[in-house]
Amino acid sequence: MEGHARHTKIGRNFRIGVVGLGEGKGLVKGLHEHPELSVVAVCDINDELVTRIQTEYGVPNGYTQFEEMAGRDDIDIIAIYTPDQLHIQHIKMAFEAGKHVICTKPLVNSLAEAREILELTKSYPQNQLMVGQSSRFFGPMQHQRKAFETGKLGEVSFVETHYVHDMRWFYTNRAWAREGGFDLLFACCSHPVDLIRWYMGDVEEVFAYANQSLIAEQVQFQGNDTFVINLKFESGRIGRVLGLYGLEHAHHNRPWIEVGVYGTKGTFIAKYPQLEAIVKYEGEPERVESYFEDIYHYFQFEGINHHAGEFVNYTEYFARCLAENKKATPDVIDGGKTIAVLEAIRESIQSGKPVKVEKI
Ligand SMILES: NC(=O)c1ccc[n+]([C@@H]2O[C@H](COP(=O)([O-])OP(=O)(O)OC[C@H]3O[C@@H](n4cnc5c(N)ncnc54)[C@H](O)[C@@H]3O)[C@@H](O)[C@H]2O)c1
Repeated sequence: MEGHARHTKIGRNFRIGVVGLGEGKGLVKGLHEHPELSVVAVCDINDELVTRIQTEYGVPNGYTQFEEMAGRDDIDIIAIYTPDQLHIQHIKMAFEAGKHVICTKPLVNSLAEAREILELTKSYPQNQLMVGQSSRFFGPMQHQRKAFETGKLGEVSFVETHYVHDMRWFYTNRAWAREGGFDLLFACCSHPVDLIRWYMGDVEEVFAYANQSLIAEQVQFQGNDTFVINLKFESGRIGRVLGLYGLEHAHHNRPWIEVGVYGTKGTFIAKYPQLEAIVKYEGEPERVESYFEDIYHYFQFEGINHHAGEFVNYTEYFARCLAENKKATPDVIDGGKTIAVLEAIRESIQSGKPVKVEKI
């Protein structure tokens, strides 16, 4: 499954620097030969990786020190894909260098850090920060959002989201997943928690159970990797999130990510990575919608292991917002609210009790 990104019109040129070239190389690949968005520099502490990505995608400047890349005058946007624990320091450095920032999920690893970032951004009102919540920008989820925004689903009464994925490769291959400050709840449940908030709004209270899967125990991964989360929203409605990471994944009936939106006029269940959705509107027969025409945009290289298509989609959206002087979301407040919910979930797991979500 090799392919090319679909590039859309921005209306202005932007120059981008990408730091962290694991997942980050998906953005470099996706923006290769973009008419308006050019990756002018890449950075990673792994110098061989920097050279390889520069050569593969014709990136003129490569760095192993982030301060040096951030200091370039010709960069407008910095896209951060370093390990979760480093996001806070890289966001700070990018803002202090006067850049706009896209930071991959999770924005940061605690509510205290989210508040710190919120304070920081107040000092740079001319710069924007957007959280790269890639799942919002995957095809079926975008079709689902359109159905919601155009009223096809009516009033939404319940949403269920899940992220289910065999993460053994991650437990064993990512040194930083075994280091202090890492929390799989933040790393992984940031997707389904963001998605449920996108529809249901602010969360009042959560009640969560979590434990460690037997598979995680076998590979000596520390920490919880199985999460069952109930949420009560400020609107009075309720919803549910499942996060399951130590399993033999049966993909047939369990997409990695699924968003079920249940409204008064329709139900829309969007899937990742299947490029399909199950749709049932009032008075119409149930159907499966397929969006396979998008396959080479989303899965451009290395099978389905990268998110190049979603990264292109959100970077174009961010750039268009900058060009048109609009606020790009999820911004620091919206992203911070997801972190506040994750923090409340963490507390509920520890206390065994329902926990009110704090304001950011
Ligand atoms: N759907 C998504 O949006 C998505 C998917 C996967 C991962 N992620 C996020 O992307 C981030 C990176 O994950 P990954 O899977 O690519 O990990 P990774 O370990 O493959 O890549 C991280 C890269 O950052 C580099 N790095 C580490 N410290 C650095 C520093 N101080 N300066 C510059 N580079 C540094 C490493 O050398 C490595 O190449 C994480 O925050 C993760 O949660 C997002």
